[in-house]
Amino acid sequence: MQKIDVLTIFPDLFGPFLETAFVGLAREQGAAAIEVHDLRTWAQDRHRSVDDSPYGGGPGMLMTPEPLIPAIEELAGPKGPDRQARVVCLTPQGLPLDQAGLSRLAEGPDLVLVCGRYEGFDQRILDLAVDEEVSIGDYVLSGGEVPAMVLIEGIVRLLPGVLGNPESIERESFQGGALLEGPHYTRPPIYRGLSVPEILRSGDHAAIEDWRRKNAQARTRERRPDLLERAGASRSSDSRERD
Ligand code: 6GU
Repeated sequence: MQKIDVLTIFPDLFGPFLETAFVGLAREQGAAAIEVHDLRTWAQDRHRSVDDSPYGGGPGMLMTPEPLIPAIEELAGPKGPDRQARVVCLTPQGLPLDQAGLSRLAEGPDLVLVCGRYEGFDQRILDLAVDEEVSIGDYVLSGGEVPAMVLIEGIVRLLPGVLGNPESIERESFQGGALLEGPHYTRPPIYRGLSVPEILRSGDHAAIEDWRRKNAQARTRERRPDLLERAGASRSSDSRERD
């Protein structure tokens, strides 16, 4: 079972998210233990403050080392090879998350996810207490809470023993194939004049597989040529390794 602790000043954001759908199921089934902690619990002063203004001036506020570092150390232990969890900080300055990153994080160890707010973190928090910084893409959000949920949802569905049909992980975009998926259809066979492609109803499994592969490639070429280039590059490095 993977344990995930979340540190945030907005613990209420996580309520229904943790109870619902796949994440809720994974927790009920004991595949994941997820706990959300209010950072202000560790604040010492009367105002329970967690932020302060930046040295050198500039807009906004920064997360301060106190109370964040004691909070992280209580959940993960002191930074170093013996700490009992990997501490991941969610920030637009982090390395971009991809499916390979999710797989790596899902393999363990336990995680502490630190949600940034304000303009960012005092650098000493990152130096003294954080193992990795992760971003979920090239756009700016007001805080790390939604990115932490992205991480949790992406990790939990990879944990062994939760997904009903592990085959469906293999077939998906990015995982394994590195292609986008082509179009899918379900009932009814004709809807508002649009028909399901005949081949999908033919029962010819080899032809269906071929149709799906061609459509996946065409869609990927059109929307995400960068994925094809990456897949091509990794294929040619595979063959170099074989030679
Ligand atoms: Cl992890 N945090 C914030 N605040 N904005 C982001 C992000 C993270 N990833 C992309 N944008």
